[in-house]
Amino acid sequence: MDRIGISDRQYLFLFAMTRIALYSLTLLLISSCGLTPSHVNMDMIPLPDELSFEDNYSKITSFSLPESLEIYDDWISEWNKGTSYDIEFIEDKLMTDSYQLDIERSAIKIKAPSVIEARNALSTLLQLRELNNGKYPIASISDKVEFEYRGMHLDVCRHMFSVDEIKQYLDYLAFYKFNNFHWHLTEDQGWRIEIKKYPKLQTIAAFRDETLVGHYNDQPQKYDGKKYGGFYTQEEVKDVVAYAKSRGIQVIPEIELPGHARAAIAAYPELGCSGEETTVATKWGVFDEVYCPKEETFSFLKDVMDEIIPLFPSKYIHIGGDECPKTSWKNSEFCQQLMKQKGLKDEYELQSYFIGEIADYLASKGKTIIGWDEILEGGLNEGSVVMSWRGEKGGIEAARAGHEVIMTPGSHCYFDHYQSTHPNEPVAIGGLTTVEDVYNYNVIPNELTENEAKFVKGAQGNVWTEYISSFKHVEYMALARMTALSEALWNPVASRNFPEYQRRLMSHHSYWTFLGANMANHQYDVSIKIVADPLKGSVALVENKLLNARLFHTNIQGENAELSSGSVILEDEGIHGFFMNDEKGRCGKKTSIKFVPHKLNRATIDFDVPPSSSYPGADPTVLINGVNGSDEKYGGDEWMGFAGQDFGAKITLNEEMDLNDISFRFFKGEGQWIYLPKSIVVQASSDGESYAEVAKSTSISTDTKVAEIQLPLNTNAKYLRIVVKNHGEIQKGKQGAGHEAWLFIDEIRVN
Ligand code: ACM
Repeated sequence: MDRIGISDRQYLFLFAMTRIALYSLTLLLISSCGLTPSHVNMDMIPLPDELSFEDNYSKITSFSLPESLEIYDDWISEWNKGTSYDIEFIEDKLMTDSYQLDIERSAIKIKAPSVIEARNALSTLLQLRELNNGKYPIASISDKVEFEYRGMHLDVCRHMFSVDEIKQYLDYLAFYKFNNFHWHLTEDQGWRIEIKKYPKLQTIAAFRDETLVGHYNDQPQKYDGKKYGGFYTQEEVKDVVAYAKSRGIQVIPEIELPGHARAAIAAYPELGCSGEETTVATKWGVFDEVYCPKEETFSFLKDVMDEIIPLFPSKYIHIGGDECPKTSWKNSEFCQQLMKQKGLKDEYELQSYFIGEIADYLASKGKTIIGWDEILEGGLNEGSVVMSWRGEKGGIEAARAGHEVIMTPGSHCYFDHYQSTHPNEPVAIGGLTTVEDVYNYNVIPNELTENEAKFVKGAQGNVWTEYISSFKHVEYMALARMTALSEALWNPVASRNFPEYQRRLMSHHSYWTFLGANMANHQYDVSIKIVADPLKGSVALVENKLLNARLFHTNIQGENAELSSGSVILEDEGIHGFFMNDEKGRCGKKTSIKFVPHKLNRATIDFDVPPSSSYPGADPTVLINGVNGSDEKYGGDEWMGFAGQDFGAKITLNEEMDLNDISFRFFKGEGQWIYLPKSIVVQASSDGESYAEVAKSTSISTDTKVAEIQLPLNTNAKYLRIVVKNHGEIQKGKQGAGHEAWLFIDEIRVN
């Protein structure tokens, strides 16, 4: 399908010419911000393996494709007008996973083992054209795919996006050489794909009465009172799938089961175990209304799959499998009988039975299932593919069991997380996953042997949209991190170079910004780590990875000083600012921190167990550095997270002194499984050997996201022992029931 009508073409051409002229101007402006001015722009992302180029352009400005590449005609025709040259395509079966692209003065040649790899050469051509005002630099490029699965996901259930916006998303994917689009189509909050046999999926399941406003953790929760919803017709789905195909992208639909099924159950209550009526969910989270493993449900799901299969040529169908509470199965006579009859020892095996039924059915139709890592629990059909989202553990286990794996750990691949600690970031679900985190992602977990690693097929960026209601916001959250992931999927860790990538990212940022895309831009931000040093006290270590950056500190009087060493000792209580300049002028916005000194700034801290590697804080001493983390978000440099564990630490002051009181900051985000601790015990000692209890609390509560707990000490000591008890297992009926709670600590302050 061509998105542009014939009558629009001339307009588009004029628009393109204007855009090219203006874009040249933008490039010039950018060069005043630190880019080296040069004739041709070779700032490709992902960076190809080998590249040589002349500082000159090919005579060819448009081309058509040979018959063997005609599947890409619709894509190519959008950027090639009035074609006069035929591109040359040579199939060379021996070039495994690679392509060779030669742009000459009057010819363009692609060599690749098949049309699949040839598509990557076309993506490269498209990037070069767009970065060079419609011209192709004379160049020779040899390039190789590192991972065969390069995916981006989009949740259209929490918020929905138009077909044109989905196509725009696919254009971004093609630009950055992604080859899989994971389309998350069914959820508690809305069913988004037309299933003709079940009309109530369209009239009931596709709409919710209203939507939560603000963050889930905000108390009291508020709603907008507006009906929200819609669905894609099967004709629209075919259009999207064809559009993706012409860009070399496979569309993988996700039809969630057995959990995240509340919208379907709202339409057809008989699909649940209780048969009770429910509503399409209006807030986020996990719900007890899940499919009941009975014949009626399996018939429904098989009918749904019968309509899904012809729409999606993909070998894979994603069946979800995550976050399925077992409450309704535990309370169901029918389920308990079924478990006995089938010899299933618990509800996890019942879930495995449920997924097995659907996997078998799909296998009989030639399809393979992909599921989130929970599908490993209770056993999994051979051949099923696992998406590892709860960290890397599921991926490691699956690879060891011989399942193919796609890595999507929250720490590196969840693009619904915050991407900067800047206070003006729009509300996000939580966490912090910066462009640099994504860029440095090592797709193969270190724990795997070479043989096990072969099962890791690639990685995927996930864009869940609870807090992303417009496509502009999708662009903001996904686009910059998508470029980083594309390079992480393309080049091994050892060959990546973040500052050099950032330089290329600036070209992409100005290109997309000029086209009106809302790409996040945190390249100019400084990163600041405040550490507590036993000799110096609190020290700000300041960094910006942009080439040629100069770093500055603004003191509490508002005076600026360059930090040639990249660090400054904090002494004065108050607001300190940090920013960067390049050689031509300021390019960064200021980041400010509030420093309030206390007696632990010159202490050392030793942990009983280290924090989770997903939430380690910037340094062990951030807990005593005199700077608080965000009141709104956990994660980031200042907060430390402990998964299911108590926090225990020994603090050594640099001398014995009077200690009046101690205070702690904890985060509370029960929707994210983050709970306040059960208790705090503080012991003190003068010699580091005999300790006495000096403070204790067993009632810790708060109405806000952050609890600040102050306890009197009234002691004289050099050593403190602190034990903070984790909340433990999350209670029934709560998000994450049955899992161990997280404990998040930010600052321990002693005055
Ligand atoms: C997921 O994020 N629940 C897969």
